[in-house]
Amino acid sequence: MPAIVLLGAQWGDEGKGKATDLLAERIDYCVRFNGGNNAGHTIVIDGETYAMHLLPSGVLTPGVVPVIGNGVVIDLGVLFDEIDLLTARGIDTSRLVVSANAHVITAYHRVIDKVTERFLGKARIGTTGRGIGPAYADKMSRVGVRVQDLFDEKILRQKIEGALDQKNQLLVKVYNRRAIDPTAVADELLGYADRLRPMVADTAALLNDALDHHKTVLLEAGQGTLLDVDHGTYPFVTSSNATAGGACTGSGIGPTRIDRVIAVAKAYTTRVGSGPFPTELHDGDGEKLRRIGAEFGVTTGRPRRCGWYDAVAVRYAMRINGVTDVVLTKLDVLSHFERIPVCVAYRLPDGRTVEEMPMTQTELHHVEPVYEELPGWQEDLSAARSLEDLPKNAQRYVEFLQELAGVPFSVIGVGPGRDQTIQLKALV
Ligand code: GDP
Ligand code: IMO
Ligand code: MG
Repeated sequence: MPAIVLLGAQWGDEGKGKATDLLAERIDYCVRFNGGNNAGHTIVIDGETYAMHLLPSGVLTPGVVPVIGNGVVIDLGVLFDEIDLLTARGIDTSRLVVSANAHVITAYHRVIDKVTERFLGKARIGTTGRGIGPAYADKMSRVGVRVQDLFDEKILRQKIEGALDQKNQLLVKVYNRRAIDPTAVADELLGYADRLRPMVADTAALLNDALDHHKTVLLEAGQGTLLDVDHGTYPFVTSSNATAGGACTGSGIGPTRIDRVIAVAKAYTTRVGSGPFPTELHDGDGEKLRRIGAEFGVTTGRPRRCGWYDAVAVRYAMRINGVTDVVLTKLDVLSHFERIPVCVAYRLPDGRTVEEMPMTQTELHHVEPVYEELPGWQEDLSAARSLEDLPKNAQRYVEFLQELAGVPFSVIGVGPGRDQTIQLKALV
């Protein structure tokens, strides 16, 4: 069996957790391949809500092997808290496998994330403050700490001292903060080593071997395409590749082994943090989407910025990721709007209209959405289980979005629960 990628088509929080959970009974391995505990994936099973930050959502399904791939940055304190929390709720996390090559978020990454944001002032990214950017920066600068370093105390201490030599100068002299003690950082990490050791493996070897043995591997992204460091709205992005390419580098699985790329898209748009958002609403409709859609961050609790569906952004995501299937979520939230605008193009300041993402960020910052308005519907959708159960106008809305995306929609979400789903086509 093949590898399947599942990722976000917008700015994150599209409902990847629920989509992964829907597939989990038919997969053998569920891998997180990028990001860290900046993610917050919600899964609702029998009225019980689970929020996953570092663990892949498949951990909730008995028999699935959850894997944290090499592309993830791990805050070990958060990892063990999450494991303990799930264990206390009766979830078996004992099958968890962690890549020896994954990088570790340390106390200094968290501090640097916060002080750099403060220094940016109005130009801040609006990060989650979890140390994600600084940990990936160290990875790229080749001064990062990896999971395997915890098993070689001498190397670990050397690496942390080396990294802090420079960072402490910056913290003290530029940011006017106290220096961080390398011994304390190393001691904290070493304190996790014994508990971590049995979980650690060469996950690229493990996953390729699983594929050789006809197992099904689901690669679950954090964040979304427009938050990807290469293809997103840079610099207002996260620091990893949340797109399909990241699934390969972040897991060690080659592209020829992937035969499906499932994109999750919300029936409207949300974004947390700063950065361009052409369809953002600052009026009562935006407030209504936030209230009905419960659009508050799972990780930071921040209210999410809300706006209408942006077909230009989603079509861009289809292309960047080579998407084969779309899971459309939260259609139910759009009930009770008289008219529902859909952004079908952008108008540039010079008056030109474009149907693709503009080449430059300057242009994207200044575009105006071109809307086509569809008639809304007043019925509650949460009990719909087939396309025919939907009011005609809701069917028309879905068909219109599908046409604009140019990719078949396989699943439609009409509520947070597992069963609140319209299955149009099997995904696995
Ligand atoms: P993720 O980060 O992509 O996994 O998404 P989040 O969990 O951050 O945000 C999605 C939210 O929408 C969660 O609270 C889900 O429980 C919820 N959700 C997912 N699908 C649907 C749906 O079809 N309808 C409704 N009403 N809620 C949904
Ligand atoms: P899931 O996986 C929504 C956003 C932050 C900020 C930017 C950079 O739940 O979809 P970072 O802390 O990553 O350096 O912050 O990225 N961000 C997310 N927004 N959903 C997420 O994850 C996000 N992870 C990061 O709000 O704007
Ligand atoms: Mg989320």
